[in-house]
Amino acid sequence: MTTKIKPQQNTMFKKEVTEGLTSFPKYLSSKYFYDKKGDKLFQDIMDMPSYYLTGCEFEIILNNTSVIGELIRDRKNGLDLIELGAGDGKKTKVLLKYMDENDFNFVYKPIDISENAVELLSNNLAQEMPTLNVDAEVGEYFEVLERLKGFNKRKKVIMVLGSNIGNLPHPKAIDFLTKLKDTMLPDDLLFMGFDQKKNPQTILEAYNDESGITEAFNKNILTRINREFDGNFEIENFKHWEVYDPETGTAKSFLVATKEMKVTIEKLQLKLNFDQWETIHTEISQKYDDKIVSWLAEEAGLEIETFFADDKGYYKNYVFRKA
Ligand SMILES: C[S@@+](CC[C@H](N)C(=O)[O-])C[C@H]1O[C@@H](n2cnc3c(N)ncnc32)[C@H](O)[C@@H]1O
Repeated sequence: MTTKIKPQQNTMFKKEVTEGLTSFPKYLSSKYFYDKKGDKLFQDIMDMPSYYLTGCEFEIILNNTSVIGELIRDRKNGLDLIELGAGDGKKTKVLLKYMDENDFNFVYKPIDISENAVELLSNNLAQEMPTLNVDAEVGEYFEVLERLKGFNKRKKVIMVLGSNIGNLPHPKAIDFLTKLKDTMLPDDLLFMGFDQKKNPQTILEAYNDESGITEAFNKNILTRINREFDGNFEIENFKHWEVYDPETGTAKSFLVATKEMKVTIEKLQLKLNFDQWETIHTEISQKYDDKIVSWLAEEAGLEIETFFADDKGYYKNYVFRKA
């Protein structure tokens, strides 16, 4: 097993925080929720029954393990299985176990922006599946896309689970899918999870638990800025707020300042003013239906080969090929 841990993309974090907090309205990217504390909070979120996404995708992979496995198998040359934003790999492990036990001849390459997540997953796989060939990497989706072109000696399967794509607004999602397509050869596959439109109340509750786990997760971005850039955000004076627009299918997370505040971020040389009730937009979690996914695929030059759904039809995993 090899694990290439790259230094966190601190420069990009600095640049994006500066840009987002000096814009009007203010915003920050959800990709910065994830550090040691953020990863743990996200695992707690996945354990909450109201966060149905994990259970639905787990059900899909568990109920279709051999079908998915045989769909991606290449008996002649084996394959490279590349997972973007792998997190703790809980659902992927079901498939990995099947592949490991059934002679797949493959390398599993999890990539995640969180160094902590990559480290934990690598160590965990070394313990649980010691025969697995793992080549983990710390990296950001858009940064690693160019390097994926190098995986062209045998079949490559790219996985993106957890509806991670939902963190990108449609134009960025099309850009992401197009760039993924550009790395793909005709035999390569893209296996991607898309959370579906459903009762708006169910969606709202997934991002709005009363126990405050989602709130702590959302606020972790301010905790990181305080710690890593010497900031003095008074975190208790921000409120987690979630909205879902059933017309666009977009869930949005905000941090709302409950009073007027002055914030200094020493290492970014920033002095910020917050009016009472001013917002920081921190995350989108886009919801989809078949029409939207078909449109995204078409725009990106991909075609849908098949899809898998959970019993309630809450969530779908689509398999794409280069059109
Ligand atoms: C919503 S979690 C899902 C994790 C996993 N795919 C799952 O389904 O359980 C998103 C994961 O993607 C990673 N991530 C978020 N934005 C990223 C980006 N721009 N580049 C690489 N990884 C990213 C996070 O660190 C986190 O582990």
